Order: sequence, then C-alpha cells, then structure tokens
Amino acid sequence: MPSLGDFIYAQFIFHPPKPTTSFQSKTIIITGANGGLGKETAKHLVSLEATKVILACRSISNGNKAKSEIESQLKSKCPPSVLEVWQLDLESPASVEAFVAKANALPRLDVFINNAGIHSSKFSTVYETERCIGVNVIGTFLLALQLIPKLRQTAREFNTTPHLTTVTSALYDSAKWPAETGGKDIFEWFREEKNFDWMNQYNISKLMQIYILMKLSALVDPLDSNTKGARPIVINSLDPCFCKTGLGSPEDLPRGMQLAGKIFTAAAARTAEEGSRLVVQAASAGRETHGKYMRTGKVQAYDKSALNKRRQEDLWKTLCVKVEGLQKGLVTVLPFLD
Ligand SMILES: NC(=O)c1ccc[n+]([C@@H]2O[C@H](COP(=O)([O-])OP(=O)(O)OC[C@H]3O[C@@H](n4cnc5c(N)ncnc54)[C@H](OP(=O)(O)O)[C@@H]3O)[C@@H](O)[C@H]2O)c1
Repeated sequence: MPSLGDFIYAQFIFHPPKPTTSFQSKTIIITGANGGLGKETAKHLVSLEATKVILACRSISNGNKAKSEIESQLKSKCPPSVLEVWQLDLESPASVEAFVAKANALPRLDVFINNAGIHSSKFSTVYETERCIGVNVIGTFLLALQLIPKLRQTAREFNTTPHLTTVTSALYDSAKWPAETGGKDIFEWFREEKNFDWMNQYNISKLMQIYILMKLSALVDPLDSNTKGARPIVINSLDPCFCKTGLGSPEDLPRGMQLAGKIFTAAAARTAEEGSRLVVQAASAGRETHGKYMRTGKVQAYDKSALNKRRQEDLWKTLCVKVEGLQKGLVTVLPFLD
C-alpha cells in the first residue's frame, strides 16, 4: 500500500494536469467505457480530436447511454462518426473472440486502453478461478494479447507509436501472494473459497497484471532491442489515484464497513475525470515508459514485490496455458508468446 505521505500527495496535493496531446487521426479502444474512468477517458480523447473512439462495454444499452451523454456534452466536438459502442464481456471467450475479429478489421488501432476491471467482496468464480482474478487477469489478457498484432501492424503501416495502456492500481504492492499452493497452479488455488480473502483478491489481481505486463514488454519491442528501422509500440500501465467510480463502491463492502467506506470516499477520492487525465497521459507517453508503471503522472519504480522473477515466469506460463485452453492455437498464432 502506498505510504501515508504518498497517499496524501496523490490525493490532495498533486493535481493531474488536463491532457493536451492531440489524438488526431487515431483509433482508440477503451474497455469498460460505459462508466467511471473509462467514460471520462473517452470524453478527453474525443475532445483531443481522436478520429474513432470505441467504447467496449459489457452492456450495449449502458454503452449507448454513455455515448449519448458524451455526444450531448461535447456537441460539435463529437461528430456522429467518432464514437462506436462494441459489445465486450471479458468473462466470455466467445465475446472476446468476436471482439478481436472486429478489431482486426479496423483500418488501424493506435491505442488500446485496458481499463475494465472489478473489485468484489463476495466470492464467485469464472474461468475456473476467483472472479476478480478471472476478469482482471485472464479475460483482460485473453483480449490484450490478441490486440498486440494489430497495434504492431498499425505502427508499421502508419509509421506511428501505438500504445497498450493498462489501468492497474497502486494497491498491487499490498498483495499477499500465497506461500505455497499445494502443487496447484495459482488460478486453481484461488478457485477454492477457503483461499478467498476479499481484501486481497483485487490487490493480487493487480500484482498479476504488473507481472504479466513486465514479461510482455520484455517480449514485445523491448526497450533495449535493436528497433532501428522498425516501429515499436509502448506497453505501459498506470495508477489513476483513488477515484469515485462504480468500483468497490461502499455498498460492495461488508456491511460493518459501509459507513466508514462512504466517509473515506467522500473525504479522499478524486473525481473520475481527474483520474482519467492520468489514463490519457499514459496513453500518449513516450517509449521511455515501455514496461513501466506510472503514478501521479511519472514513472515510478516497481515495488520489490513486483521484482520476483520466479513468480513472474510461473504466472506467465500459467497464463499462456490458460489462454491456449480458452482459445485453441493462440500461443502459436502470437509469435511473442513462448
Ligand atoms: N476507482 C479507483 O479508485 C481506481 C483506482 C485504481 C485503479 N482503478 C482501476 O480503474 C479501472 C476502471 O475502474 P473504475 O474505477 O472506473 O470502475 P467502474 O466505474 O466500476 O468501471 C469498471 C468498468 O469495467 C467494466 N467491466 C467489469 N467487468 C467487465 C467484464 N466482465 N467485461 C467487460 N467490462 C467489464 C464495467 O462494466 P459494467 O458497468 O457493465 O459493470 C465498467 O464499465 C479498473 O481496472 C480499476 O481496477 C480504479
């Protein structure tokens, strides 16, 4: 968990600057864009003249509500051709597959904002693991891995630097990794309710995201590779600060903690609009942020928990087996998956 000083700085002293970098001619996908940080990110990107902003939403009707809201707020800044709503449920491999096929048919993909996520205090499962891990890790990377070839193709064809930007969380450094899993892989281990700890699930899903992104950015256009003549992409992540959104709303906390949660949120949380400025900033940050994690607008060194190479490698292998099981042939189709 960030130290108290770091938390006070991030929530009360630091003021995220409004983004100004132009996204002219760019095509962008944002997952979880019907509310919270995703919707506010979309507003900024439209204002910054993106050509196409695709709102990837679990519910088409909620996505259409967000689209109407953005269009009526931004008026002439948002011509009817800019926003599209596409269905995406990260809990459904069929939905992810259909989404990837549609994305591959786009003329270009400049930015993929990997934003959708959940936090839950109740135990349930998906992809044969606990739901928070299932959505934030397995569904999230089942999709992201398959969009990388399109980002790289865009880099080559349009001589540009596409971004895969993941909205992770500073809470990754508070995750408690199980000391041993009795021979089970980490996803299997978390499938058992006795291993569920509602305070830890979200944090561990965010630490898993960090491990996977570190590995992925070492495989795809690493910073030290000879990219002369080629156009590399940027894979980075960020913490958007603690913001008032639908995520982990006080109602989702165990009963005894709901009032405290409401007071804490009212006193300390930033607006989703402020948090979304940091998402936009990371989605246009330079190559020096490849493989890096950003907090309060700057690259921040990883906590030592993220530097555990053995866990990183084990998790990567487990994820590859998992996604291959969900989508046959994936590992051989994507050249960077080994
Ligand atoms: N808010 C914070 O303080 C904070 C801090 C650090 C990091 N973050 C991260 O910011 C990201 C955005 O969260 P938020 O705070 O904006 O929360 P939010 O308002 O709850 O938004 C989450 C979005 O993810 C979508 N989503 C959830 N499950 C999905 C699934 N299976 N398939 C597709 N979409 C799904 C939700 O769709 P529905 O509306 O259909 O549920 C919603 O659009 C998350 O990754 C979160 O971990 C947030």
